[in-house]
Amino acid sequence: MDFQKIIMKYNLSRYILPTLLVVAIGCSTAKRDITQTSKKKSSIDRKVDSLLSLMTLEEKVGQMNQYNGFWNVTGPAPKDGTAAKKYEHLKKGWVGSMLNVKGVKDVKALQKIAVEETRLHIPVIFGYDVIHGYKTISPIPLAEAASWDLEAIRKSAEIAAAESAASGLNWTFAPMVDVSRDARWGRVMEGAGEDPYLNSIIAAARVKGFQGDLGEFSLAACVKHFAGYSFAESGKDYNTVDVSHNTLHNVILPPFKAAADAGALTFMNSFNELDGIPATANAYLQTEILKKDWNFQGFVVSDWGSMGEMVAHGYAKDLKNAAELAANAGSDMDMESYGYVEYLAGLVRDGKVPEVKINDAVRRILRVKFQLGLFDNPYKYCDEAREAATVGKKEFHYGVLDVAKKSIVLLKNENSLLPLKKQGQKIAVIGALADDKTSPLGSWRIGADDNTAVSVLEGLRAYKGNQLTYAKGADVTLGNPAFIVETKINMTDKSGFAEAVNTAKNADVVIMVLGEHGLQTGEGRSRAELGLPGVQQELLETVYKANPNIVLVLTNGRPLIIPWAAQNIPAIVEAWHLGTESGNAIALVLYGDYNPSGKLPMTFPRAIGQLPMYYNHKATGRPGGEAPTESVFWSHYGDIDNSPVYPFGYGLSYSKFEYANLKLTANSFGKNGKINVSVDVKNNSAVDGKEVVQLYIRDLFGSVTRPVKELKGFELTEIKAGQTKTVTFSIDEKTIEYYTANNKWEAEPGDFKVFVGGSSDTKMEAPFTYSK
Ligand code: BGC
Repeated sequence: MDFQKIIMKYNLSRYILPTLLVVAIGCSTAKRDITQTSKKKSSIDRKVDSLLSLMTLEEKVGQMNQYNGFWNVTGPAPKDGTAAKKYEHLKKGWVGSMLNVKGVKDVKALQKIAVEETRLHIPVIFGYDVIHGYKTISPIPLAEAASWDLEAIRKSAEIAAAESAASGLNWTFAPMVDVSRDARWGRVMEGAGEDPYLNSIIAAARVKGFQGDLGEFSLAACVKHFAGYSFAESGKDYNTVDVSHNTLHNVILPPFKAAADAGALTFMNSFNELDGIPATANAYLQTEILKKDWNFQGFVVSDWGSMGEMVAHGYAKDLKNAAELAANAGSDMDMESYGYVEYLAGLVRDGKVPEVKINDAVRRILRVKFQLGLFDNPYKYCDEAREAATVGKKEFHYGVLDVAKKSIVLLKNENSLLPLKKQGQKIAVIGALADDKTSPLGSWRIGADDNTAVSVLEGLRAYKGNQLTYAKGADVTLGNPAFIVETKINMTDKSGFAEAVNTAKNADVVIMVLGEHGLQTGEGRSRAELGLPGVQQELLETVYKANPNIVLVLTNGRPLIIPWAAQNIPAIVEAWHLGTESGNAIALVLYGDYNPSGKLPMTFPRAIGQLPMYYNHKATGRPGGEAPTESVFWSHYGDIDNSPVYPFGYGLSYSKFEYANLKLTANSFGKNGKINVSVDVKNNSAVDGKEVVQLYIRDLFGSVTRPVKELKGFELTEIKAGQTKTVTFSIDEKTIEYYTANNKWEAEPGDFKVFVGGSSDTKMEAPFTYSK
């Protein structure tokens, strides 16, 4: 460590030098509770051990304490209440991390206290929910997943990291990698949808985007929610989770493992229980799987208050007991439960929590701080000039526009309504969401200002050749939604219908922008009905009677249930909540200046009763299928089809892609072998386009039952008008392995099918076998 450089550059000698020197010297002296030999340790680990040896028990516990910051940090010190207590704790070195403090000025003010006023001068790590952007907002993660474009997704995370890191932050609570099968759950917007494979590779792309080279434009990632949170019964947020060991290992855990393998520095546990044990006290998850099996070296933060909530779960007797259970299970940092800071030192003294547990947790936390370079320069993220030059940069707008246009999914396009003609058209635009500059920012955009997204109307107005008229038709919410307040959607006002009908009557094309407000999705925003909220469905049907030439643009944070629209409306575009550049992205697609290439990352069900609904379900003993409609004794509903309205992986283009010549280099392979699978994809149209060519397999029998289809690969490929491209995948033991009845990941011999196509409902298939 170059002390001289640090001292000169940051003028920190008075504060940090004594600690740094002792840390350095300590490397050779204080090693009593070090388990590995120091030879094998990295230089960071040696520094961590050395620092740890200087810490009192209270200081160690302090590192495990995270506080929400809410007082005016640059104003006078708080005198009473919780704020004063937090402030006092910060000065004593009893706060390892803060969340929800943003902006260089505020971060710097707090960091200064930690670094200059505490005994050991240990910097604080500042976390924030930078989920889909900070100030310049990207599409919601579910939308980005629809792009199937890993580079665009990585780039979007990189932009979010650069902007927020320039604002003082060093840690984001993202990516959320919860595989989500139930659209009632409002947080499906925050993940990559229903497939474990897609979630896994997107998780890795996001981690890489956020963490980059861990330089001053990077953030530490926090993979969440470990684990099972999205399996809340009946899609109701925070509800009980009851999943099998099989589902846990084959469906829920793979994206977490992929994120850990991609180098994610931290994990967050979750609010739910798993097998009767809340995740925060779940040693199987946090210690056995994450830290032992996966050898994860970072730390686990609890979810907000999840330690304290174990009392409400009926698992812990009181907060003190909750702290004991959490610490013993491997939960390293307490987010806003106050359990560790209040009780942990006492619990260690009483012999309830071994000090080695504390040492392990603190080591993990300090290691991440070293990895981020906070010890070298605690103000690494606190450069006001950089903040001014970075936040809201033009390049960021180009970046989020790029991923936004790629996230749009064309669901239906009949009567050649799309792309729109650029000249001489009378276009009616209808719907409150068309004129909304806040809603497209989505649910997690707490760094962005209201009214900063490009609305659909603004995006369309940039095309001057047509005549545009607008009518609101109906509201989407009652009042002005706020992040933590219940969004009222039970409005009934139809007074705008007449104007909407008149506007539509005179138009060549009607663009109806309907769906959910950005704050009708997200945390705590489960819905029991998934149709268009309020009177929007009635508005759609009323306008349709006046003019059926409708392009329905959906803006929403989850799959909606729209069977009537799918049946009757000629053109439907899924445009999610696309962030700051939303309206521009939508206009590019509607006018054909970007040929849509997105594919659904979640199934669009036919009815709410089908939920949870996902393509990669098990077969059951009575799968039915095409034939047995005479008898009732098969797995089905008496009132609707089993099929979805739109399946996973589905999405159209202005090009027309045709698949032919599925070929396998062999029909079997053995140990260490492989098969190549190729298919010809022809763009049978006059427009260049991009297609996501998807590879699925089915394992026909196994030591535990297997899904009817599983995504195992895809290629996003550009195919010029008239061109045919051969796309090749390979299948080997890695492709077919899964968590078997032997409780391990392995490839089992047997018969398989491979499927290739532009959607999960592809019928193009071929058999193959694997033998050891
Ligand atoms: C959410 C987390 C989030 C945390 C901090 C919790 O309520 O579940 O995902 O990161 O709050 O804001």
